[in-house]
Amino acid sequence: MAAQSPSPDGLEGVVAAHTVLSEVDGQAGRLIIRGCSLDDLAGRTSFEALTGLLFDGFFPDLPEDLTPALGQARAEVFAQVAHLDADLATRTPVEAVRALMARLEDGDDLATALRLVAAPAVFTPAVVRVQAGQTPLAPDPEAGHAADILHMLHGAPARPEEVAGLDTYLVTVSDHGLNASTFAARVVASTRAGLTSAALAGLSALKGPLHGGAPGPVIEMLDEIGAPQNARAWIEAALARKERLMGFGHRIYRVRDPRADALKGPVRALAAATGGGRVAFAEAVEAAALDILKAHKPDRPLDTNVEFYTALLLEALAFPPSAFTCVFAMGRVAGWMAHAREQIAGGRLIRPQSVYVGPVPRQAA
Ligand code: CMC
Repeated sequence: MAAQSPSPDGLEGVVAAHTVLSEVDGQAGRLIIRGCSLDDLAGRTSFEALTGLLFDGFFPDLPEDLTPALGQARAEVFAQVAHLDADLATRTPVEAVRALMARLEDGDDLATALRLVAAPAVFTPAVVRVQAGQTPLAPDPEAGHAADILHMLHGAPARPEEVAGLDTYLVTVSDHGLNASTFAARVVASTRAGLTSAALAGLSALKGPLHGGAPGPVIEMLDEIGAPQNARAWIEAALARKERLMGFGHRIYRVRDPRADALKGPVRALAAATGGGRVAFAEAVEAAALDILKAHKPDRPLDTNVEFYTALLLEALAFPPSAFTCVFAMGRVAGWMAHAREQIAGGRLIRPQSVYVGPVPRQAA
């Protein structure tokens, strides 16, 4: 049997790319996107401007303002919604969105990238509406991206604080170093398969509960807890069953995830309309969880991650929890596209090695 080297479990600590796109500082709890701190971007920059920032230098002829081109891309991809048949509508939203996205042509130019950025934004409201027995609504290419998503979802203009909340969310989750979905997108891009293939790889990796699938279960947890006085007993029982608390812990952050704080303001602004009771309850659950996790894992700091406040924000915007991962994809797809182009521009085929630890044929032993 071959000598075993230590297993690079989960590739923790392995540097697999150099990037100008974003940096996650897990000790300081800081996220930098293209030279700007998340604190300076969230709530101050539109998703269209942020996408332009991420794309800068990676696409020739990038227009100064991506708003009209992204609006046009939303209108173009809406044609695919005709293929949302009864069978597809029975799937989870992320599976249905992925199937519609797979219908888009592969390519590596700006038009392809914008169609992919538009895809989850247009397909998610359509899938949610069809699953609720409603007719999908066409996008308005003249509208802002966040406002148009909410209009396609609800069939009525959204309030300014709702548009601002979704815009802040999309910016906040747009890029985050070499997370699992971005790495998956870069691996596929490194083979020169095309941006659609890279986006599909990213979406498939995002779907898992350890990555972008966590916020739906956060709502399930809050609903099961029901009232602040039940929080401690519920959490202790979950940990005793060796379950993980969704919305807590992170591979990189050893302190609070700065994205959780970026979302707190919009969450509170939206909650004000309904008296703020849900947020107060969630904060009580969060405080109990942090206290118990500290005692449960004294050597491993486990703090609140982005998904906890994502769940509250998307719930306040009336997205069904089953579609939360698709909303995450609406933001993260901008990062996938920029990383894919960065990989194509400067990177080689990603092809690591494995150490064989299985049996060998007798004559070679
Ligand atoms: N609840 C309870 N215990 C936990 C949690 C948690 N949320 N997170 C980690 N632990 C424990 C884990 O069980 C392990 O204990 P042991 O050593 O006894 O087996 C220890 O802490 C170390 O965990 P790990 O699996 O080595 O940590 P990781 O870096 O591989 O995992 C994580 C990071 C995000 C997958 C994990 O913290 C987790 O599963 N969190 C819950 C799911 C979640 O909220 N995911 C969203 C992440 S933020 C969005 C994004 O950026 O993708």
